[in-house]
Amino acid sequence: MQDLLTEIADTVGRSEERGKLADYIPELAKIDPGHFAISVATADGSLFSAGDARIPFSIQSISKVFVLALALGRVGEALWKRVGREPSGQAFNSILLLEREKGIPRNPFINAGALVAADTLLGAAAPGEALSALLRFIRSAADQDDIHINEAVASSELDTADRNFALAHYMRSYGNLENSPDRVLGTYCHQCAIEMTCEQLALAGRFLLDTGEMPHLVSRERKRRINSLMMTCGQYDGSGDFAFRVGLPAKSGVGGGILVIAPGRGAISVWSPGLNSYGNSKLGTEAMEAFTRKIGWSVF
Ligand code: DON
Repeated sequence: MQDLLTEIADTVGRSEERGKLADYIPELAKIDPGHFAISVATADGSLFSAGDARIPFSIQSISKVFVLALALGRVGEALWKRVGREPSGQAFNSILLLEREKGIPRNPFINAGALVAADTLLGAAAPGEALSALLRFIRSAADQDDIHINEAVASSELDTADRNFALAHYMRSYGNLENSPDRVLGTYCHQCAIEMTCEQLALAGRFLLDTGEMPHLVSRERKRRINSLMMTCGQYDGSGDFAFRVGLPAKSGVGGGILVIAPGRGAISVWSPGLNSYGNSKLGTEAMEAFTRKIGWSVF
């Protein structure tokens, strides 16, 4: 395993064509596009890494996986009255389908659906309490305490969150948001600004494995369902392409991270800040394609 990760970091990780940084959030546009890291936390408790695997990065939309798990824990199946379970075939921040579908977002990973999940996580709590619960969940999944929110990234995103505010107001007009757009966006921008290293993210991802010594934070059925949604919706309109190339459930973030779950085998995380046209890590996707081709892990 270690040789394979080192080989991927030395080949894919050094590619010249690295994609484009997420410059719509000014703080993210400052990241060195030369970073590359890959980590694997195996179901039997080992951890392997190559590249910059101990440098924290902004997990962005990968946070939607943890928030979904907590929102389901809070309201159970009732969540599915407010958000669907179908791929959208649209960009992560698209508003297109919301009017046709009367304020019910297609799935919990596009931004509109993630705002409903953040609203559910909030309930009647203060944003600070909801974010503390989220950090506690992630820290216990990773078994690591040194995981924090980057306030500069959160406020940079909040300053430029016009489209997310539009999604929130639009859903509220249909009665599909309990809290004010300000509270929901404050929570959402802070969850996106959580920073983790590639190693920490792979370790935290083990909560979605249903084998061995993994942290049992959610039921087996819920793990299966979250994995299914990651497979069908985790890379937005690039989900089909990712499933075709990699064959594993995964969730991306515009910080350039991807968390990938190989059921029964392990959790893999990759990080390279440059993005492809879908807003997912370009080299991260290529690295995962190389990894699964070599190691043979697949749900198919
Ligand atoms: O809502 C946003 O714009 C971001 N904070 C999160 C988007 C994201 O990570 C999309 N993923 N590839």
